[in-house]
Amino acid sequence: MSKLIKGGTIVTADLTFKGDVYIQHDRIVAVGPDLPHDADHVLDATGCYVMPGGIDPHTHLEMPFMGTYSSDDFESGTRAALAGGTTMVVDFALPSPGQSLLDALAMWHNKTGRANCDYSFHMAITWWGEQVFDEMAVIVRDKGINTFKHFMAYKGALMVDDDEMFASFQRCAELGALPLVHAENGDVVAQLQARLLAEGNNGPEAHAYSRPPEVEGEATNRAIMIADMAGVPVYIVHVSCEQAHEAIRRARQKGIRAYGEPLIQHLTLDESEYAHPDWDHAARRVMSPPFRNKQHQDSLWAGLQSGSLQVVATDHCAFTTAQKRFGVGDFTKIPNGTGGLEDRMPMLWTHGVNTGRLTMNEFVAVTSTNIAKILNIYPKKGAILPGADADIVVWDPAREKTISAKTQQSAIDYNVFEGKKVKGLPRYVLSRGVVSIHDGEVRTREGHGEFVPRQPFQAVNRALSTWKELTAPRKVERSGIPASGV
Ligand code: URP
Ligand code: ZN
Ligand code: ZN
Ligand code: ZN
Repeated sequence: MSKLIKGGTIVTADLTFKGDVYIQHDRIVAVGPDLPHDADHVLDATGCYVMPGGIDPHTHLEMPFMGTYSSDDFESGTRAALAGGTTMVVDFALPSPGQSLLDALAMWHNKTGRANCDYSFHMAITWWGEQVFDEMAVIVRDKGINTFKHFMAYKGALMVDDDEMFASFQRCAELGALPLVHAENGDVVAQLQARLLAEGNNGPEAHAYSRPPEVEGEATNRAIMIADMAGVPVYIVHVSCEQAHEAIRRARQKGIRAYGEPLIQHLTLDESEYAHPDWDHAARRVMSPPFRNKQHQDSLWAGLQSGSLQVVATDHCAFTTAQKRFGVGDFTKIPNGTGGLEDRMPMLWTHGVNTGRLTMNEFVAVTSTNIAKILNIYPKKGAILPGADADIVVWDPAREKTISAKTQQSAIDYNVFEGKKVKGLPRYVLSRGVVSIHDGEVRTREGHGEFVPRQPFQAVNRALSTWKELTAPRKVERSGIPASGV
């Protein structure tokens, strides 16, 4: 089965040119001007940009969390992703305390049978011991996973301490893996939460008061310094504020490989959402880190522009209003998380490209190509090149809509972007050659999605371990050591 995407402008992370894309089965086989017309199916891309499908490296589909499960599963979540131009998601396998990493991974694989687009996993390190140390090697060498997530927050649940993090980071260095970090100081958050509740501050706005930017900035800096001492690169998820961005920027200027991932929510929604008189409105926007003010947003945009932040994700973790209401009277019980999979690309195009804050090529870089490189799956993903997977979005810059829960693919009953107008939407979305969105119509195929294995890193980890070895502390050999004094 062949397909031809005809008459569009191809936009990649580094090039913009007129051209067609020829697809055989699930791969791109040719890219260039005026390709032969003999394909079984021709997709008209006139007036459109033909770009690599989006990759969202941060989702939580059907995630057990805070006494419930996030409400989008791999079917509705990947359908939402495709509807918005995203053709691959990376979710997190979360072992319970004491649980084998391999068991947790098997549980997460069991959730994916109905996935509509390709997916991969990060493995979370939620406890530490010899078994975890040993299984990390199996995860990297045999299971196609090269990233390990660490939570510095969620005390008493997912949180790991500095001891555990340093041990795990060193293991990542040995194995050619990349540590990921949710950077918030969980001890400080726990104390602030207790104080706020004791003072009667129990509404959703107190969630934001309990997680000020300093909590994030301190933890981000700590994670980066620990990674540097372990001789491993580090990726900070959901960077929401200047303090965290500053830590990343400073580290990068010193030559440290630290990567930062802002979310579309933090780029476009601010802290005033928590002051809304409607409890549900505010609680639906409770996530960690919380939304910040305009100065923090400006910092995140600047990071994307200058390259100190590399990736825009969603952290899609959708809870219904009924689930959010678990926290009426106690904000610490509101399940943390917001949706965004369907809206990431249109919102970023509208607020980034249409405003001149991002070029189209930068848009492709931060929604797809940069993370494909960081995760070691480029150019299978994140590229419009012969041999690459045919994960493609044909983007119509003139298409408009108003975001609404009534028309969304996500299973929940609201949308944090409700009422926002977007201009720039997919005309076609191809998931490994399958036309999943056709002229805006959803034609996803349940079970089409496949696991994308990822090989361990070679270049950066090897460079860092070579440098570490070269600069390791060495005992000074001395002749004539004096007798010990009295
Ligand atoms: O509030 C959030 N971000 N929920 C999902 C879990 C996490 O911390 O990423
Ligand atoms: Zn057609
Ligand atoms: Zn997190
Ligand atoms: Zn997350």
